[in-house]
Amino acid sequence: MTAHVNVEKLRVEAGPQGQAKTIVHDVSFTLKRGEVLALIGESGSGKTTIALSLLGYARPGCRISGGAVHVGEDNMAAMNAAQLADVRGRKVAYVAQSAAAAFNPSRRIMEQVIESALMHGVMSRGQAEAKAIDLFKQLSLPSPQTIGRRYPHEVSGGQLQRLMAAMALICEPELIIFDEPTTALDVTTQVDVLKAFKDVSESVQHYGSLCVSRLGRCGPDCRSDPGAAKRQGDGK
Ligand SMILES: Nc1ncnc2c1ncn2[C@@H]1O[C@H](COP(=O)(O)OP(=O)(O)O)[C@@H](O)[C@H]1O
Ligand SMILES: [Mg+2]
Repeated sequence: MTAHVNVEKLRVEAGPQGQAKTIVHDVSFTLKRGEVLALIGESGSGKTTIALSLLGYARPGCRISGGAVHVGEDNMAAMNAAQLADVRGRKVAYVAQSAAAAFNPSRRIMEQVIESALMHGVMSRGQAEAKAIDLFKQLSLPSPQTIGRRYPHEVSGGQLQRLMAAMALICEPELIIFDEPTTALDVTTQVDVLKAFKDVSESVQHYGSLCVSRLGRCGPDCRSDPGAAKRQGDGK
């Protein structure tokens, strides 16, 4: 297998030009199709910054200042806004730490889960809804046929986190990023949600996953590569 994701000497800076502080120091790693790679580090070490760079995104006040972030043929670090809009959600998807923050509270869940499939034109509304219900079943969500009619506040935190995974998987992306996807949940729910993510990941073999985790929270199914990333912080 050849590397599908290739991050090479990624550098991200924060702050105004001239007084910028480097928050990601020349990080390199690769990920093959079907592989799960864990990115582990303490809080504030740069995990989310690295994960977001795979979407070609830097948070306000930050910028990708060096290196390349290839997903397949595309260098996410060098694409313009229109090119990024075309690949985000379709080719690379992101499951955030807080599902509550990722969902719009005033729209029904199904509308939000299928939105990227309709926006990218990869399937019809009927196909997207059928696919969403299928994912709800695979993610062990209750009442898979009707849960999409509810609003985000009408489901539990663990269910909303699974629904965010369904939202990320709807277009069958080539790369899915789980950024501490269970940190906001209690410990027993974390185990159930991680198992559901693992089961659904195994049913779709063609994509790779980057799992972001705090120290000590990584499961046994992740590849561990001591040379994959450099220690972050204070330029060490
Ligand atoms: N917009 C920003 N401006 C300045 N510094 C930032 C900004 N966003 C994040 N940082 C800094 O970058 C570092 C890495 O943040 P982050 O990637 O969120 O870490 P992690 O996900 O590992 O907790 C932190 O020290 C944080 O303070
Ligand atoms: Mg983070």
